[in-house]
Amino acid sequence: MVSIVTATTSSLVPTLPGAAYTDPAVFEAEKRRIFERSWVCVCRADAVERPGRFVRVEVGDESVLVVRGRDGVVRAFRNHCRHRGARLCAEESGELGKSIRCRYHAWTYGLDGHLIAAPNMREMPDLVKADHGLHRVAVEQWLGHVWVDLAADSEPLAAQVEPQVLARLGTLAALDRYGIDRLGVAATVVYEVESNWKAIVENFMECYHCATIHPELTAALPQFASGYGTVSGGVGAGAVFAEHVDGFSLSGAASGRRLPGLLPADDRVFHGIVLRPNVFLILVPDHVAFFRLVPTSAGHTRVVVDWLFDRDAMAAADFDPGDAVAILDITNRQDFEACERCQLGMRSSAFEGVLVPAEHVIGAFHDYYRDAMDLRR
Ligand code: FES
Ligand SMILES: [Fe+2]
Repeated sequence: MVSIVTATTSSLVPTLPGAAYTDPAVFEAEKRRIFERSWVCVCRADAVERPGRFVRVEVGDESVLVVRGRDGVVRAFRNHCRHRGARLCAEESGELGKSIRCRYHAWTYGLDGHLIAAPNMREMPDLVKADHGLHRVAVEQWLGHVWVDLAADSEPLAAQVEPQVLARLGTLAALDRYGIDRLGVAATVVYEVESNWKAIVENFMECYHCATIHPELTAALPQFASGYGTVSGGVGAGAVFAEHVDGFSLSGAASGRRLPGLLPADDRVFHGIVLRPNVFLILVPDHVAFFRLVPTSAGHTRVVVDWLFDRDAMAAADFDPGDAVAILDITNRQDFEACERCQLGMRSSAFEGVLVPAEHVIGAFHDYYRDAMDLRR
């Protein structure tokens, strides 16, 4: 019998070429075309909780200062002096006091970025303060985090993220119910992964590997042993906990009560969602895991994972997030080790990978990537 397989029904779809994951020149191009042209999640909003607090973040090749002003407004600026370009803040975070003072010739800016003073200013009638403030960067807060966009013509953050939420969860309310911006951080783990950031995104999107490397995860979420995770499960589809499981934890016990805004229908359900380019969320009834990817080179990505719980639940004397942290931490290490193994193999000049049907969902990420990078589909 002859079977005719057309291009659109082919069971094997090519992955991106190896160079997309390993070539430093590709990573440089991604900085320009993706990270310096998109809304990027850079830190938690409470990292700049009080006026005068700042955080320095690297976005693409730009150093960006996130500052809360005396008026309580969070702003972001390119982290260099308008005089002769000195880096303003070298520390990762700290207190600025009332102003930002360049250490080179002491040009001084308000926390709102305006130039306040410069030595010998009277000699410089051409120095119009209003024209020499720090370069502003678009900033928004969402899900308890600060997001910045270096693009000069940035669209609102909602235009980037809402279509992704709708495509995965079906409604914006399905995400809003978790009240992520009101949750507290119960635990944080920072993973230094010797892998390209895209391989980490792809790994999060597919569950073809779950039966092979995730015994703990598939015990809690038996559907995952099929090779199809929640991202491949269709709009709004979550994975249902195993019968004996009450919470997403290593023991199967719940770590806290249902998050305040959730519905009974959200009980015993696990959702995973990617918010391109650098955030993943895991949504379960009693907590949320917030992943923030920080790509540092073609072959290295820092992954910061916060476990977020209801603040009242965290205040209880017997609160312990360890059981919930354990199952995902084990799963993350299994995933990141797999990504690192791929990173090694994808360097081969003979590498040509394929996506099997359970992984075809990754094709949507590749479409996004090819469009962003202006590559032919
Ligand atoms: S470079 Fe900042 S004051 Fe001169
Ligand atoms: Fe995995």
